[in-house]
Amino acid sequence: MQLTKRPSKPVIFVHCAGRLGRAIKEEKEIKMREFGFIECSPLSHQRCFAVLALSRYEFMILVNRNNTANPKKHLSRILIVVPKIFVTEDYSRGCGKKQFWLSLHLRLLKSPRFWKTLLIMTILGIETSCDETSAAVIRDGKLLSNVTVAQFFHSKYGGVVPELASRAHQKLIVPIVDEALVKAGVRKQQLDAVAAVYGPGLIGSILIGLSFGKSMALGLGVPFVGVNHMEAHVLSNLIEGPKPSFPFVNLTVSGGHTQLVLVDQPARRVESSTGGLAGKTFEYRILGETMDDAAGEAFDKVAKMLGIGYPGGPEIDRLAQTGNPKFVDFPRPYLAENSLEFSFSGLKTSVLYYLRKTGFDKARAESKVVADIAASFQAAVVDVLMHKLLLAATKFGVRDIAVAGGVAANSELRRRLEKASGEKGLRLFIPKFEYCTDNGAMIAMVGYMKMKEGVVSSLELTAEPNLQLT
Ligand code: KG4
Ligand code: ZN
Repeated sequence: MQLTKRPSKPVIFVHCAGRLGRAIKEEKEIKMREFGFIECSPLSHQRCFAVLALSRYEFMILVNRNNTANPKKHLSRILIVVPKIFVTEDYSRGCGKKQFWLSLHLRLLKSPRFWKTLLIMTILGIETSCDETSAAVIRDGKLLSNVTVAQFFHSKYGGVVPELASRAHQKLIVPIVDEALVKAGVRKQQLDAVAAVYGPGLIGSILIGLSFGKSMALGLGVPFVGVNHMEAHVLSNLIEGPKPSFPFVNLTVSGGHTQLVLVDQPARRVESSTGGLAGKTFEYRILGETMDDAAGEAFDKVAKMLGIGYPGGPEIDRLAQTGNPKFVDFPRPYLAENSLEFSFSGLKTSVLYYLRKTGFDKARAESKVVADIAASFQAAVVDVLMHKLLLAATKFGVRDIAVAGGVAANSELRRRLEKASGEKGLRLFIPKFEYCTDNGAMIAMVGYMKMKEGVVSSLELTAEPNLQLT
């Protein structure tokens, strides 16, 4: 039989080889029978596949990898021979007949691990937690597209205006998602899941991407996966290129967070209280975080004091390249010996006091002086970030260290960390620039990993502006 349209329910196609045990290649025509099955793995959702009986206990599973309407055409690849599938009496009674019902108790089909090995998944990821609207498509772990629009208009206000950010996301979300799909060469109907950020961040901004993602998943009839923004930053080092091995220490340094995390092997999935499955993909242990300002926030505030625009990080980075990092000896807030906590508010205040003491006037300041102050401030931040990351690596005996988040784009931090890690025999991982700042690729990647684990979210998942990593 042939399907004229994609099934609206999970469907299994069963082919009976007449007498069991007969080689499939002897069959001239594929005969199929369709039935729905329930309580399967979330990964099986809307999949077309065939089960061919080889013998009493052996079946071949063929997957329609393109999920297209004509299973005959695409059921070409034999993926697995599964011994000992559990069958019911229906099956025995069906033996010898042309078609038979296969048991609904196929335990294997309920196992996410089974689907994980079997399926190619195409996931759309949506990021709108702050002032970047971004969407990306990942297929089978490979990034196909990542489209980001940064809302630069906030610079004239000296910081992100939440209401304006949310309205801009509203305008941008459709074209950005469209472009991500077009660039990836993927049609909406080919998506196997939609992932979107659900926190932490600005509530109005999160709500745009989250509502859009959930609606799209509902409309397409595919699973929805809610993604924690902090988890996505931590795992941005797994998007492309050489990847750290477990366990590794990650330093997430963004506009809202400065956090040292020990990342370890995947944990088992857990059931969420909202009725969906919202487990964690990996084990995270927070080793230290900022007690006040985040590193990116300090960059932005100091840039404002110097009158060099928003976001401040990239500007300070650029100016510092021509400045003298020893021009002012700003304090290094290492805190107590061996501490892995951070504090940047004192450093920011000492920049303010220095500017006041020297009568700094941002309207008239010499560009050389601005560059020297920027370089001196940046040197203090980089010293602290490096010290704590390397200390954490030593304390926890890991060989692989990673940096993620907007501040990971800082050229001085990258340069000095590369040198120091080489000297200490550590392996350093920093994502490409476009995956350092907020991006859909990291959301799609976490969505993909969760789907592989069979972890999906309920459509009742709500925005959580203060969502924590653990
Ligand atoms: O991760 P992100 O895009 O957004 C948040 O989740 O916060 O990080 C934005 C932060 C801003 O504070 C920005 O100033 C900082 O990252 N940033 C930089 C650089 N590029 C962006 N900080 C230092 N150097 C840079 N090159
Ligand atoms: Zn971020």
